[in-house]
Amino acid sequence: MAAFRVREAMEDLPSDPKERKELYNAARDLMLATESPRDTHHRLFIAWTRPMIQIGIDLGIFRLLAYNPARAWSIDDLASRTGAESALLARVMRALAAHGTLKQTSVSTYIATNITETLAHEDARKQSSCQIGFCGPFMHALPQQLAKTGYLNPSDVNDSAFQLGYGTHLTPYLWLQENPERAKLFFDMMPIQRAGQVCWTQKAEIVEPMVGKYFALSEDDVARERAQLVDIGGGAGHQCITLRENLPKLKGRIVLQDMEFSTTPASKDPVILKNSIEVVTHDFNQPQPHSTRGAKVYYIRNVLHNWDDEACIPILKNLRDALAEDSMIVIDEMVVSEMNASAITVNYDTVMMAFATQQRTKAEWEALLGRAGLGIRETLCYDEESCDCLIVVEKMASLSNGGPRDSVVE
Ligand SMILES: C[S@@+](CC[C@H](N)C(=O)[O-])C[C@H]1O[C@@H](n2cnc3c(N)ncnc32)[C@H](O)[C@@H]1O
Repeated sequence: MAAFRVREAMEDLPSDPKERKELYNAARDLMLATESPRDTHHRLFIAWTRPMIQIGIDLGIFRLLAYNPARAWSIDDLASRTGAESALLARVMRALAAHGTLKQTSVSTYIATNITETLAHEDARKQSSCQIGFCGPFMHALPQQLAKTGYLNPSDVNDSAFQLGYGTHLTPYLWLQENPERAKLFFDMMPIQRAGQVCWTQKAEIVEPMVGKYFALSEDDVARERAQLVDIGGGAGHQCITLRENLPKLKGRIVLQDMEFSTTPASKDPVILKNSIEVVTHDFNQPQPHSTRGAKVYYIRNVLHNWDDEACIPILKNLRDALAEDSMIVIDEMVVSEMNASAITVNYDTVMMAFATQQRTKAEWEALLGRAGLGIRETLCYDEESCDCLIVVEKMASLSNGGPRDSVVE
């Protein structure tokens, strides 16, 4: 009877995203509450879902099915389109259906579902290739690394699961410089690391107060070509692009800074050129160059979570030393909820555990920033599920309303 009611609910799915998410969470709770030990073993250990999905992506199966969702594809049709042997395809398709990524309609035919559509997208290819091809070795090394270090909270970026997994002494970004194939997997994934999320630049309730309070340049600023925003460790420049596209009123210079292996391709990207984004190779462990000192905003997204506190302090101090009186640092990162953190938040924190770093809680941000002589002016959360926030930071001395004044500034 209960199963019938669940199936009935599937006939009338809500279109409102919030209601849909509530139903998803309730269905997940129901699934876990009714799970048998055998189901648990298969779901958590025996299911090799990821490699099977990668095979489906490599063969272009999800694209074929999603392109025409009304069509049921036979194994023979799929074999002639993909070049894979029918006997293998029959097994792959059975597995993909069992993993819920598409639907079997007869002994030898399959159609697309909502999941197939997601997996047909280029973002899924990039995400899957990066997780399997780059993250796999160090994530599998994490249990061994934690055992080796006596289950201390990892905090040494030179001795982490990353080094164990890849048999290297290098930190991740230095290693990526020497391994361009893996670097490609990683940097292709970076712009879509938050796939499915509405960026804060598209949320009026976040953009309007941010722009009003922190971004406005005076006429004099514009005349002397003061930088509007410098994106520190900005990767391919995707955030600079979204800023230009969604905040067309920002007239000043937008500057992308990163290491050479990011800035070389970015400087040739037609979208970067079209949006007049300046691309500068700069190591954030060095002081800001003359042309970007005193920028109105130093924006730094998902960079500090890659580094332990000791490594973050010089990065932050270099920004602090470049601030003009009315400049701000805007850190775009998670502020981890200590109660009921979502799967999305903890998934990102687990990857950071393998780098011996972490997503930080409010108290951890305050402690880190205080050590760098900085304090939080305000925090704007733009994604409650992942706890992604804009943390607006200024020099500690200029904080007017309290803040971590008794922290030791190094
Ligand atoms: C996790 S990615 C974040 C990229 C981008 N900010 C985003 O949110 O998608 C970290 C970035 O830091 C850059 N990076 C690492 N070490 C750096 C250094 N010493 N100087 C400048 N950038 C660096 C990497 O190249 C990479 O683009």
